This record gives sequence, C-alpha cells and structure tokens, in this order.
Amino acid sequence: MITTKSITNLKKLVKKVKKTGKTIGFVPTMGALHEGHLSLIDRAKKESNYLIVSIFINPLQFSPSEDFKRYPRNIKIDKKTLKEKKVNLLFYPQTDKIYNPDFSTFVEETKLSKKLCGKSRPGHFKGVTTVITKLFNIINPDLSYFGQKDYQQALIIKKIVRDLNFAVKIKIAPTIREKDGLALSSRNLYLSQKERKESKSIYQALLQAKQMIKNNEKNPKKIINQINKIMVSNSTASIDYIAIRDANNLEEIKEIKGKVFIGIAAYFDSLNGEAAGKTRLIDNIIVES
Ligand code: PAJ
Repeated sequence: MITTKSITNLKKLVKKVKKTGKTIGFVPTMGALHEGHLSLIDRAKKESNYLIVSIFINPLQFSPSEDFKRYPRNIKIDKKTLKEKKVNLLFYPQTDKIYNPDFSTFVEETKLSKKLCGKSRPGHFKGVTTVITKLFNIINPDLSYFGQKDYQQALIIKKIVRDLNFAVKIKIAPTIREKDGLALSSRNLYLSQKERKESKSIYQALLQAKQMIKNNEKNPKKIINQINKIMVSNSTASIDYIAIRDANNLEEIKEIKGKVFIGIAAYFDSLNGEAAGKTRLIDNIIVES
C-alpha cells in the first residue's frame, strides 16, 4: 500500500493509474476505522480496480462545541488494517495542506442540508460537502462509497454530484451493526458501560417502527410516539429528533407511503473518563411500505 500526505504526489499517482484504464474506487473516512468503514472498503475493492482510502478529520464539519479535539485518532492501527485489506493507496493529508490559512471557498447544498442533522449541527454539511468536493477534485474517482448509517450525508453527496456534474458514481452501502443492533460508529467509544447498554434501544425502536408499518400503521405521528416511548423508557438519552420522512428527499410526510426514512438522533451524557462530554448518536432504517 502506498501512503501519501501530498496532494501533488497523489495527483501524479492517480494520473498514472488512470492511464492504465483502471477504475478508481474511493472511500473517504475520518479514520478510527471499524467494520462499518471496512464494509465500504470491501465493496469498493470488489467493484473497482484501484482502491483509494482517505483519512482526514475535517475540522470544517465540527462546530466549536463539538468533538473535533477528542475525536479518536488511531493512524498506526488504521494503516495496518488498510494494508491487510490490500488497499492500494492511503491519502492522509495534513489539515493545513487541505485548508490554506486564507481558504475562503465553500460548497453548500441548500435544501437537504437544512433538515434533521443540519438543524442541530449548523454548518456541518457545508463542511462535509466542501471537503468531499476537494477530495473528488484531487482524486477524480470513478466510484465513491458512503454508508447508509449517515443517510442524510449520502443523499447530500448524491445531490452535489448531480447538481455540480461531478464525474463520479455514488454508492450507498448498508449499515453495519453490533450484535445487539447498535450501529457501529467511532463515537460509540465515548459511551460509558451503562450508556452502551442503553444505546441498543435506538435500533430496537427503529425495528418496532418498521413492525408498525408492516402492520399497516399509516400515521407517522403514532409511530414517532411509540419510538419516543421506547427511547424514554429504556435510556437516559435526550432526544434530538425522531423523524419519519420521504426517503428520496427527506420531506415531511403526513401518511406512510412508498419508501420512508425513519431516523433517530440522541445525545448521551458520556461521563466516561477522558471521553466525557455529550455524545450524539444517529441511526436510521429505510422501510418500503
Ligand atoms: P466517517 O464517520 O469516518 O465515516 C466514513 C464513511 O463510513 C461514511 O460514508 C459513513 O457513512 C460510513 N460508516 C460509518 N459507520 C458505518 C456503519 N456502521 N456502517 C456502514 N457505514 C458506516 O462520514 C464521515 O466520516 C465524514 O463525514 C466524511 C464523509 C469522511 C467527510 O469528512
């Protein structure tokens, strides 16, 4: 595996690979790799001939009150994992090389980004779309892979690709979970033992919602109430949102119809030693009614 921090070097390498006619697959990450990331890598490996992974903790997508500083950093272990996965190239840039001190250009999607996570994390998606635009411009991949775990993020990336005519195909891969259903996330490390146990109620609530839809419940409000009950009685988490939306555009719906997104975002207090601070977990499922 080649590892490079240099944008110039990476561009040169990509040029060479492109000349050979190989399809370039790209998986952007912020590191602290887990099975969720690795599932994207496995899929990309299957569907492309040359696989590039980036590790970059993007300061632009964290607000000042968020966890940029305590975000887990495991570069040594990550490198070893990626080598074992036979990734061709790891791009691991330094922050000041991605953002010059006088950086002043941003890419912003203005509809989907205002909803759900965008409401509680203003500026977050602007940070994501800016860095992804830069990475796409630097790498020029044929295919790029995103997790359903961050469904809104994946939809927004699809949207900027369409709106701005990027020559990359976006693929969304399923959420990988712990045995008890908790979606894998680098942030799970912050949870205390008690919170870790409680956190499984997020997926349990989502499954219960799916069951209600299968039982022909058409009223989103009733389902949201039920999710809320499950969350409140099984955890100390404070709920950011519980939402049932049209899965294509995240618009509100009055009646369950077609493909729907059911999403939960909740804060856990995380009084877990060094990682103390509020931890925001998100999860979702897509249900066809
Ligand atoms: P990060 O949280 O490191 O996630 C990288 C990719 O892994 C994202 O596409 C995310 O949706 C996917 N992923 C995370 N947990 C997953 C799980 N349990 N199952 C399947 N896929 C999972 O998301 C980001 O980084 C950043 O916002 C980034 C896109 C890299 C831009 O900075």
